[in-house]
Amino acid sequence: MIVPGASSQALAAALADELDEPLSAVEYDRFPDGETFAAVPEFDADRAVVVATTDSNDAWIELLQLQDAVREAGAAEVVTVIPYMGYARQDKAFEPGQPVSARAVAKAAATGADRVVLVNPHEDSIADFFDAHVTICDAAGVLAEPLPDDLVDPLFLSPDSGAVELAEATRDAYGTGETDYFEKVRHSGTDVEITPSDAEPAGRDVVIVDDIIATGSTMSQAVGHLDKGGAARVFATCVHPLLARDARTKLERAGIERIVGTDTVERDVSAVSVAPLIAAAIDAVDSA
Ligand code: R5P
Repeated sequence: MIVPGASSQALAAALADELDEPLSAVEYDRFPDGETFAAVPEFDADRAVVVATTDSNDAWIELLQLQDAVREAGAAEVVTVIPYMGYARQDKAFEPGQPVSARAVAKAAATGADRVVLVNPHEDSIADFFDAHVTICDAAGVLAEPLPDDLVDPLFLSPDSGAVELAEATRDAYGTGETDYFEKVRHSGTDVEITPSDAEPAGRDVVIVDDIIATGSTMSQAVGHLDKGGAARVFATCVHPLLARDARTKLERAGIERIVGTDTVERDVSAVSVAPLIAAAIDAVDSA
């Protein structure tokens, strides 16, 4: 039975279709003191697949509650799917005294899960923080699906060298195009500095590929450089379209043609679903 977290209701429904499993009823509530409450009043299955993007503190607590609720309701096995894992970017103590937040939340989630499925976590090494079997899905390939078929001399760029494999995977799925990357230095959570890549964008359609658009600082700076360089259309694609604060406005002002993301974070730009990838990951472990 598929159990949706509040942030992943469309994806959970799509996954239920893919796996041909029923979708559980879920009750989300909040106590007067602000505490969240999530329950599965009609749950009745041996296995629960809890699907919950953890893009807020409340969503993390709700995930823990859903894992516990399905056990209480009799689930013998809990598969926890975290389509977008919040706190994953704090995957080390960058200064003395800082927490490894990704490890802290992973350990908590693993207490209620037999297996975990992640989609493009910030780093694959985050899987090691879970005391449970983890499968990682790579959604870079599906980012090509919503792109127009008529891209002119396409150039697939990542905003930093670390994401170049995402750009290559999206290019490979699209079928044609050059790849390159910008150099990026991050000064703070919202202040990044991007240095243009060697590739010549003039007159070309450019697809920027990243794992996440959070504040939009990275992507909007990249778009600005491409605009100055004479690029034709610029598409901003990402696995996780978090679009926090004024990210959307920054990108629109920078002159973006279109923002394309997946449904790991459910937004109006979520043009393609990762449900088939997650279903395949679950089936693969089932049949192993
Ligand atoms: C960084 O390592 C990530 O790949 C993204 O580039 C980054 O998280 C995007 O953040 P923002 O949208 O806030 O610039």
